[in-house]
Amino acid sequence: MYKLIIHGGNALHGTISASGSKNASLPILFASILADGPVTLTNTPHLSDISTSLRLLMDMGAEFILESNNDLFIDSSKLTHLVASYNLVKTMRASILVLGPMLAKYGEAKVSLPGGCAIGTRPVNLHLKALEELGATIEVKNGYIYAHADTLVGTDIHFEQITVTATENVVMAATLAKGITTIHNAAQEPEVSDLCTCLNTMGAKITGIGTSILTIEGVKNLNGTQYSVCPDRIEAGTYLIAAAITGGSITIKNIHHQSMRATLEKLIEIGADIKTENHSITLDMKGRRPKAVNIKTSTYPHFPTDMQAQFTVLNVIADGHSSITETIFENRFMHIPELARMGADLTLEGNTVLCKGVKSLTGAHLMATDLRASASLVLAGLAAKGTTTIERVYHLDRGYETIEEKLKLLGAQIERVQD
Ligand code: EPU
Repeated sequence: MYKLIIHGGNALHGTISASGSKNASLPILFASILADGPVTLTNTPHLSDISTSLRLLMDMGAEFILESNNDLFIDSSKLTHLVASYNLVKTMRASILVLGPMLAKYGEAKVSLPGGCAIGTRPVNLHLKALEELGATIEVKNGYIYAHADTLVGTDIHFEQITVTATENVVMAATLAKGITTIHNAAQEPEVSDLCTCLNTMGAKITGIGTSILTIEGVKNLNGTQYSVCPDRIEAGTYLIAAAITGGSITIKNIHHQSMRATLEKLIEIGADIKTENHSITLDMKGRRPKAVNIKTSTYPHFPTDMQAQFTVLNVIADGHSSITETIFENRFMHIPELARMGADLTLEGNTVLCKGVKSLTGAHLMATDLRASASLVLAGLAAKGTTTIERVYHLDRGYETIEEKLKLLGAQIERVQD
């Protein structure tokens, strides 16, 4: 097992490039199941979640080549084994995204039901209900979802709650359904839009991209494509905070700042100077201590839950009192007790973290839990006085490509060591 050792207290300065988006790459990889030919993807990040997805697709009969420049060539057009087994699904919940494409292309699928998760119960009832509305019969037994459909037929689907991966599953299923599907209350996250745009390059007919109403006119088949995955707004936001929390400055290249409005507004509120250009964002903290900000997470275009833990760390060392309310996941607070061990003054009341900023944190031995909580501990280690050791780094490797190399480029003292 690897751990990270961080000697904190350096202001970070420099320029890095954002990686391709994890949460856009995952559905797009699974969308390759729908194509009748190979799909070439550029800008996919090197992450363990991507390797898990490739292993899952390979288990089902897909073939792939991963080039050293991150280009990924995948042929999932002739699957032979329509099962997503517990072994892989338990390590990555996004595996549920094979369900819609398999049903649409082959009329059947057996997918392990994802279990609970460190950040919440995260049921998949809305995925299943919507697929049933498209005409699938679904049975859950022995921990597996058994889905079957002779034909999927387009219909009106109203999500009672906005959900990213269920929207993606239904969009993918509807591309090959008979007739027109309209999804109301669809997730508007940029990663959903990226999937839809990619599907359209494969010959799908999706309109309303980026809005809460998606219309999908079913087609008979989809072809292979070449597609460049969008940049990772959450990774970029995390590095912006790394600079802000250490009083430093950073330019992030290869990023769409338009998809980060809510995050950038909060960074301006904490006192950062922000400049955006076509494909870059520059943040300069000019050595200032951040001002505390109140935050409530929500669905896009509002403040993302995937940035909640990172902003909590900013508030921990900021000037003033703050409250952060998490409205998407019920248990996304695993970082709180770890931050308290570094000297943070935090109280959790229901789904709200109340924080009184302290001038500095002290390094400590910490345990990473889930992906974004782990990222927040790295940020805390960068800001803290002394040495911070973070165990269970594999959580970070799910979502942050070469994190220590990128941080070192910015001047951080960070090492990965093996136990
Ligand atoms: N929900 C249900 N039933 C469902 C589906 C969702 O009750 O069938 C609930 C969830 O429990 C949650 C809410 O709806 O309370 C929203 O969950 P959503 O379905 O939108 O989350 P997700 O699709 O499972 C994706 C991202 C998450 C990100 C959320 C919210 C991927 C692969 N994952 O998850 O990313 O936090 O949307 O934006 O796209 C991460 O990258 O660290 C991460 C957790």
